[in-house]
Amino acid sequence: MSTVDYNPNSRPVGFFDSGVGGLSVYSKFKKLLPGENTMYFGDLANLPYGSKSKEELVGFARSILDFYKTKNVKAVVIACNTSSAQAYDIIKTEYDFPVFPIIQSSAKVIAEEGAERIGVFATEATVRSGVYSRELKKYNPLLEVYEIACPNWVSIVETGRIYTKEAFEDINARLRVMREFKPQKIILGCTHYPYLTEVLQKAEPQTVFIDPADIFVEYIKNHLDLNNSDLSGSEHIYVSAGAENFMKHSKIFYNVKTLPEIIELDTRLCS
Ligand code: DGL
Repeated sequence: MSTVDYNPNSRPVGFFDSGVGGLSVYSKFKKLLPGENTMYFGDLANLPYGSKSKEELVGFARSILDFYKTKNVKAVVIACNTSSAQAYDIIKTEYDFPVFPIIQSSAKVIAEEGAERIGVFATEATVRSGVYSRELKKYNPLLEVYEIACPNWVSIVETGRIYTKEAFEDINARLRVMREFKPQKIILGCTHYPYLTEVLQKAEPQTVFIDPADIFVEYIKNHLDLNNSDLSGSEHIYVSAGAENFMKHSKIFYNVKTLPEIIELDTRLCS
């Protein structure tokens, strides 16, 4: 009689974002936990998420989680601030696997780091939700938080225009507005924004920019049933459109070796 060596902890962890942004989280996870089997979904057909309504964002998140359910994932990581801000609260109890949202999972550590004034750069939908301010103040009620939307930054990253004059001017314009608030630290509250760190840091060498991904992957590690099969992790990358562009513009954070598989999502809007 043959026995099947089935280890439930070796089921894959599914990540998602609207595009290459979530790879800034995914790459850190792969370094921290190289033995985990992983999947990544870039929802390029619906990019950018930042200009979408709550109903649309809940629909996108559901369709990706439904897809991951068919892949028998053990957990899903929302490597997207916009989806964490607008969809997580609604969908978190709809699945029988844990769902990790970036904002809610990293707020405690950021809030308790000791700053009094924190700035947040994020998408329009994230700023509109107020979730960053709410989550941070939950752990430090005296904290002053100022959130600014940067509507052009996702497209700058997704079209490979990071080192252009236009990007530099847009980034500086947002920094000028933020400077008036006099933040001690600025959170990069969209997973696409760490791609702009070099430009941001050059414009403001004295400012501390926080990439929540570092805290987030530690949080996931502490709350995940870790793979104990002692294997080197497998990966599968999916997109809903634009596979070539995804490969081309992901390079800063992750070397996507093979062309992602295209999956057409069944996007239902929530009523
Ligand atoms: N990278 C995502 C986030 O963290 C979504 C950006 C977008 O598509 O607008 O918010």
